[in-house]
Amino acid sequence: MAHKIPKTIHDLKHYVYITHIITNKKSVLYKAQHSQTKQIVAIKIYENAPILYQQEITALTKLQHKNIIHMIEHWTSGKYSYIVLEHIPNSDLLEYIINLNKQKIFLIEAEVRFIFKQILEAVVYSHEYKICHRDLKPSNILIGQGRHHFILADFGFAHDFSSGQKITKACGTVEYAPPEMFTNKPYLGPEIDVWALGVILYTLAALKEPFYGYNNVIIANNVRKGIKYFPNHFSINLKDLLLKMLNIDAQLRITTKEICQHPWITVEDEDEVELPF
Ligand SMILES: Nc1ncnc2c1ncn2[C@@H]1O[C@H](COP(=O)(O)OP(=O)(O)O)[C@@H](O)[C@H]1O
Ligand SMILES: [Mg+2]
Repeated sequence: MAHKIPKTIHDLKHYVYITHIITNKKSVLYKAQHSQTKQIVAIKIYENAPILYQQEITALTKLQHKNIIHMIEHWTSGKYSYIVLEHIPNSDLLEYIINLNKQKIFLIEAEVRFIFKQILEAVVYSHEYKICHRDLKPSNILIGQGRHHFILADFGFAHDFSSGQKITKACGTVEYAPPEMFTNKPYLGPEIDVWALGVILYTLAALKEPFYGYNNVIIANNVRKGIKYFPNHFSINLKDLLLKMLNIDAQLRITTKEICQHPWITVEDEDEVELPF
């Protein structure tokens, strides 16, 4: 959906349009303000009420957590469906990683842990509610006020795995998807998120993704081979955790509960973390 669509055709209800944030394949996002309370919000608009809209509102209705985006309200009007979210001012983790890269600043492991544990907490909480995200990646992690607060967003691919039924639907993003996604092997859900968390952890520590290539076929081939090398500066404990999260055998992959008990996660950092910017 292009944002060339005149905004006047949109029924923003009691919100006043401020600016366009982004147009993606699946949705368009506007920044807006509540006409009475003056609260600044982000309004995500889907066309033709796709399944993504249903999945996102179902998940966000259930989830209330400091590291998960807060949904204020939602409605459908004509062929458009609207999700009003709290507005998060400081962009996302992808942009943060790109900026670190530009300035050639690596995060120390305590800083990586500080960010990663917030994302892990959001995922563990979602899994307790039997919701897996299926599209964990840096652009779906927003940076809140004070820049030390990381918030999981974009629940369009969220899936309720409470029935215990395995499914085969491939979704998400090739660089963050596990090998079983490319072979149509049935999966439950949480193990998909664990793999993506592993890719995020590696990317935060290395400032580059572990699996890359010129096109999706090459990337998928690299994903299937699994992780072979780590940058020299990775600690033994970090490598151990990553090998367990990025296990190409989904049956043997570490669980979120085990991640929380891993020594790389449980270590107490002495100094308060002050992120580079
Ligand atoms: N609540 C928000 N406040 C500010 N920016 C947001 C908000 N939600 C999303 N964004 C920005 O818009 C981008 C796309 O939003 P997302 O929910 O991921 O939609 P899509 O399904 O199109 O990927 C995000 O990567 C982020 O940069
Ligand atoms: Mg997204």
